Amino acid sequence: MKNWSRLQWLTHILCWLPLMVLTAAYFTNNLTINPIQAATQRSGDIAILILLASLTMTPLHILFNLPQLLKLRRPLGLYAFFYAALHMLTYTGWDYQFDFNLIYASIADKPYILIGLAAISLLTPLALTSHRWWQKTLGKIWKRLHQLVYLTAVLAVVHLAMAVKGDFLRLQGDIWKPLAATVVLAVLLIVRIPPLRRALSARHRRRRVVKITPQPTAKANPPGLESLNPQKQTETSNH
Ligand code: HEM
Repeated sequence: MKNWSRLQWLTHILCWLPLMVLTAAYFTNNLTINPIQAATQRSGDIAILILLASLTMTPLHILFNLPQLLKLRRPLGLYAFFYAALHMLTYTGWDYQFDFNLIYASIADKPYILIGLAAISLLTPLALTSHRWWQKTLGKIWKRLHQLVYLTAVLAVVHLAMAVKGDFLRLQGDIWKPLAATVVLAVLLIVRIPPLRRALSARHRRRRVVKITPQPTAKANPPGLESLNPQKQTETSNH
């Protein structure tokens, strides 16, 4: 913790902030006239926002050579899980008092809850195995497992599109959130297509080679070039 960079500190502060705002709004009676619905909606919005932010880190690094962003993926993923769990607890605990018969019956009215449940069921093993120890122990399996985060994000966006009061397919009603989330997710999925990803990485490596001007008299590789070896790059290919 003491070695955190400013960016890491900022990320943690920004991720705790919505919870503090939500709690303050609740205790000062500012959580609208329907606090349960407001808390469910806000925690859901924050969960999906942080989830998409966590998926944006690798593409941003590939495009702009920002290796410090890679360290934010794990905390962002865990915060996304935290807010998704809070969102689920608000609905099941606060709204339905953990009455599972009622919750089960509510699914008939709100089928998007099933999609939400699928999303959080996938996110849970990812959060539980996010520690480095699991990464080392599981090796390639860990990488495969953590690629499920993309499926989780797709399910979360579908859940959001079905939950809002609007017709997403006819572009009518309250659809700006699912629309924005779909566009962001589509871009994130497109940049993962292997040829495109390779082209972006190569472009980024070429830019770095141009930046490091070699000394004409130097016989050996100028310092820094060894870091262009793709095997030595800090970039990893999960999310
Ligand atoms: C990764 C998991 C999940 C994410 C990211 C997520 C995200 C969201 C988002 C963004 C919304 C729309 C909020 C808005 O209208 O602005 C929403 C709505 C909702 N979600 Fe989830 N959700 C997840 C899982 C769940 C689960 C497991 C449940 C219930 C067991 C659930 C129950 C609901 C309900 C009831 C609403 C409608 C709230 C309302 O408009 O009254 N969600 N969710």
